[in-house]
Amino acid sequence: MKTKTIQIDPANPDPAALAQAGDILRRGGLVAFPTETVYGLGANALDSAAAAGIFAAKGRPPNNPLIVHVADVRQAKRLAAAWPDAADRLSAHFWPGPLSLVLAKCPEVPQVVTAGGETVALRCPAHAVALGLIAAAGVPIAAPSANRSTGISATRAEHVLTSLEGRIDLLLDAGPTPGGLESTVIDLAVSPARLLRPGLVTPREVEAVIGGIEASPGAVDEPANAGVPRSPGMTERHYAPNTPLECGHDTRLRVSELCRQGRRVGWLTLTPPPVQPPAGLYPLEMPADATGYSAALYAALHTLDALRLDQIVVELPPLGNDWLAVHDRLRRAAARTEE
Ligand code: TXA
Ligand code: MG
Repeated sequence: MKTKTIQIDPANPDPAALAQAGDILRRGGLVAFPTETVYGLGANALDSAAAAGIFAAKGRPPNNPLIVHVADVRQAKRLAAAWPDAADRLSAHFWPGPLSLVLAKCPEVPQVVTAGGETVALRCPAHAVALGLIAAAGVPIAAPSANRSTGISATRAEHVLTSLEGRIDLLLDAGPTPGGLESTVIDLAVSPARLLRPGLVTPREVEAVIGGIEASPGAVDEPANAGVPRSPGMTERHYAPNTPLECGHDTRLRVSELCRQGRRVGWLTLTPPPVQPPAGLYPLEMPADATGYSAALYAALHTLDALRLDQIVVELPPLGNDWLAVHDRLRRAAARTEE
């Protein structure tokens, strides 16, 4: 398969390009497209064969369900068997936006999309290209992040091509995605609601709208729970570069020690690195605020991974509500074993 790339304006997407992409989706093809979080790998969510194509292209285990992207609340309600009050309030507050809601599914949602489960994750993305594409396709779009399974998600078109070129029909290239980390996933099919994956919407923001939620094991940065899967098919090693990655506090010492041993080291630091780094050290200074850090993290990991270094060392950012998703992704990137 040859992958075609179309450049598209992130704010005012060309209707002809969207129509072409929509046609491909309706015919059962695969289209990678930008959202406000990361690039997604889309297929018609109501077409079992098309959705199965996503799993094949990504090498994704069939027990890991997909998020279905919708144009609005009306379309979401058609896919859910029940629409609780909390779904009303959260969608009114956060959609379009980086929040996925897990709800009981209606029969029209194919089993392959939900990995055989009775619930479906729904999200309305805040990106003109994603919304335009859903409208052009005329169907909801199932889309995981557009990367090979367990790898680092794609925040730029070139990341998509590096891992999926030749495996998908079309890539809509709208430049870097603004958010940089995946959506928050909240399970509303249980009571009380549960946080399944921290993301750009913080648990505190969710609680301000629907009251107390529970964190399922492993969904927050608790070392004691490391390794416990909290979402079907969720593995601990995820969002991970090929290069071994470690996180720490005294990273300045650690990287100079590694360099003295002759190792080639990538370094994500929060303080300005030396103007002339020692031989073998590849420093990247990261933004000191959570929003900026989130937007930059995956591109930084892709850059360092491409250098085929011996080690990546990450200076741990501050703790706190705003940094939950960053800590979650760093912990997963550092995990060495697959479950
Ligand atoms: O920001 C995002 O969410 C991006 C963009 C493309 O929208 N998508 C994304 O999809 O990150 P993916 O497939 O990489 O991650 C989806 C997560 C997985 O952890 C999956 O297990 C969970 O959502 N999930 C999906 N459906 C679920 C369900 N029915 N029940 C529980 N967890 C579910
Ligand atoms: Mg993913």
